[in-house]
Amino acid sequence: MIKMNPHYNKLNASYLFSTIAKKITEHQNANPDTSLIRLGIGDVTHGLAKPCVDALKAAADELGSDESFRGYGPEQGYAFLRETIAENDYHQRGADIDPDEVFVSDGAKCDSGNFLDVLANDIVVGVPDPVYPVYVDTNVMAGRTGAFSDGRYDGLQYLEGTVDNGFVPTPPSSHLDLVYLCFPNNPTGASATRSQLSEWVSYALEHNALILFDAAYERFIQSTDVPHSIYEIEGARSCAVEIRSFSKTAGFTGTRCAFTVVPKDIEIADDSGEKRSLHSLWNRRQSTKFNGVSYPVQRAAEAVYSPEGRREVDYRVNYYMENARLIRDIMTNAGYTVSGGVDSPYIWVQTGTDSWSFFDRMLTEAQVVITPGVGFGRMGEGFIRISAFNHREKVEEAMERITRAL
Ligand code: MLT
Repeated sequence: MIKMNPHYNKLNASYLFSTIAKKITEHQNANPDTSLIRLGIGDVTHGLAKPCVDALKAAADELGSDESFRGYGPEQGYAFLRETIAENDYHQRGADIDPDEVFVSDGAKCDSGNFLDVLANDIVVGVPDPVYPVYVDTNVMAGRTGAFSDGRYDGLQYLEGTVDNGFVPTPPSSHLDLVYLCFPNNPTGASATRSQLSEWVSYALEHNALILFDAAYERFIQSTDVPHSIYEIEGARSCAVEIRSFSKTAGFTGTRCAFTVVPKDIEIADDSGEKRSLHSLWNRRQSTKFNGVSYPVQRAAEAVYSPEGRREVDYRVNYYMENARLIRDIMTNAGYTVSGGVDSPYIWVQTGTDSWSFFDRMLTEAQVVITPGVGFGRMGEGFIRISAFNHREKVEEAMERITRAL
């Protein structure tokens, strides 16, 4: 009989948000008359911005005519979008990124998992704890870990985020080859200062390590002293790959568009120690396994950078961040230690109680879905994450229900 990838046996039975979705369905089936409010998975609730919808329609019309039809596009993304991203997200912030270092993709989640294809299996991997579970699970699937015990996988190095370090782990004294950093952070909402990021870049340069920098929530940064890109830090072009997404800002969670920046300065060793270009390897991987994001979706992503697109994105970001402020204030006034919600749409609350029990209590007593902190790793036990993505009246109602249930 055909054999399965044995590493899948090490995984927890299901992905965190699938487990939550199953619990919600069971609850709804048992209580069909209740109206749940979802502040769990970070899915946006505002519709696509109008310029994006217009661009989608116009591009669909183009595809409908033989004269303007486009078939396979470039696997790396169309030049019009790569140039727009390089100019607006990088050059205008003083970061030196070329359009052909930008790889357009169908999602930050996919890219963070797919990137492992180009890395050796016997590398030392450092993941934050709490952590976006995709970083861990994709390493398990690839066979880079041992068994799961006591909330952790053997073989991974965990970088602990705590109240004391503001959920920004410092570089370890030991060696890592690959480090996952996510700022503004999912799930803790923490952001990293310039000096904290500089420490990581110095560490990576000293250890010939690679930083996989997930900046999916960059647009939510409000503090003026927080860098928006790792490339604002000197030296990062030689050691960091940055992943960004249109999902949470322009409402592309279902439409799907993101990008990964792989600077040409990054070198990586082959088996014999010979230096190879990471950019070339990723390009090779993408052109073999990916056929690019659809033309209408790339046109819609381009429209995010138009003056009207920017206004609409600003509106959405401000709206969700006002929700975040509201959630933060209410949980703080309820006496909890709260972080996040300042530069990110996630509010991380220390409940001090078993996080799945707290989740169940909120589901059954308040009819509100939140995310249990332990789902993001051992260090998340005793915490919950509340997402600010919902309509204002729903957030207000959810917070009233939560306050009553507490
Ligand atoms: C989350 O809630 O953590 C995110 O929505 C997950 C994701 O973006 O994949």
